[in-house]
Amino acid sequence: MHASVMKRFNTVFVLAFIGLTFCCSKCDQKDIALYEPIPFPKENPISSDKIALGERLFFDKRLSKDNSISCASCHVPSLAFSDGRKVSIGVNGGLTERNAPTLLNVGYQKTLMFDAHISSLELQAIVPIQEHVEMDMSMIDLINKLKVDSYYTREAKRLFNRTFDAYVLTRSLATFQRSLISQNAPFDRFYRDKQTNAISQSAQLGWNLFSGRLNCVSCHPPPFFTHFKAENNGLYSKYDQPDKGRFRIFNDSSDIGKFKVPSLRNIELTFPYMHDGSMRSLADVLRHYEKGGNNHPLQHPSLKPIVLSEKEKANLLAFLSTLTDTSYMVRFKKMN
Ligand code: HEC
Ligand code: HEC
Repeated sequence: MHASVMKRFNTVFVLAFIGLTFCCSKCDQKDIALYEPIPFPKENPISSDKIALGERLFFDKRLSKDNSISCASCHVPSLAFSDGRKVSIGVNGGLTERNAPTLLNVGYQKTLMFDAHISSLELQAIVPIQEHVEMDMSMIDLINKLKVDSYYTREAKRLFNRTFDAYVLTRSLATFQRSLISQNAPFDRFYRDKQTNAISQSAQLGWNLFSGRLNCVSCHPPPFFTHFKAENNGLYSKYDQPDKGRFRIFNDSSDIGKFKVPSLRNIELTFPYMHDGSMRSLADVLRHYEKGGNNHPLQHPSLKPIVLSEKEKANLLAFLSTLTDTSYMVRFKKMN
């Protein structure tokens, strides 16, 4: 069976145990502002002890079949929780199909994954655990392996009043990820706090281009620099199997080549770029948009060839660098 079909099959099976529902094709697109407190499901309130439990799980290599890979192996704190690779490496050297995205501000996302099809962090956590090229664990075996850990058992009882199980595991991992927030970039001081000197003149000119003539904000609007929906940005003139984007989930031919628009926050740290990590630098990305994409038939009509002077390109790069905020690293210093 194809890996992604298998993954969906397993996921539905596990859901029966832990009482979560799939977000079907059209999710409820609520508007959530970055500068507001992080949203969370009513049944899974945030607490510092739950964040600590989730953090321990996130860095625990026992989550993988051969105890070699933790969530943090592919979501590395110092790289904004991405991993600097084109695609990631899982158990037994297996390669993922896609580039690992940042997890900063992931708690604000309305839909997860490049296919924009998973509605909650609680649900998402099951996918890498079971995926053969990532952690390759069955949930039942994993719980049996982890419930001998006295910290996990004690905290499950104290925080959830139950034995350590998939419910505790998914709620804690989700809560830890909701604590990964980055909203202290120079751009935030410029945009939110109206400090005009927070970013250079060149970056301000780059922001004017990005939000004005180039209208990059139609898909990458602040403060997240994504509208969270899947779009076709003409990365290829033809999207071959296996990765035709969101099409592979819903089989809707209008979804071919559509991938969830990535956030551009901390973009300097999340190289290489695009769902397949095929672009090594931001200069490569700008060349792609200058060309107006590769004319895929379903490419978004707003993408047309554009003319950029060297100075304008430098201004755009200066603007993109104002989206870097490493203040979140204070908590993770000793882990790198
Ligand atoms: C082997 C590498 C690997 C491991 C291990 C891994 N991930 Fe990922 N993660 C990825 C890749 C690749 C994607 C993108 C998948 C896609 O969109 O199809 C991803 C996507 C995600 C997303 C969606 C983010 C978004 O913006 O849509 C979340 C959340 C996430 N991972 C959390 C976790 C958690 C929690 C764990 C541990 C239980 C974990 N990951 C383990 C590689 C990995
Ligand atoms: C029609 C929507 C759309 C517009 C307009 C658009 N983008 Fe994108 N952008 C996307 C999508 C979709 C992706 C991811 C494509 C993929 O992974 O295959 C992306 C990816 C990127 C990335 C790489 C992000 C990463 O983490 O991999 C950067 C940087 C970027 N765009 C910058 C820009 C700039 C600069 C502009 C304006 C010139 C722009 N975009 C206009 C939809 C758009």
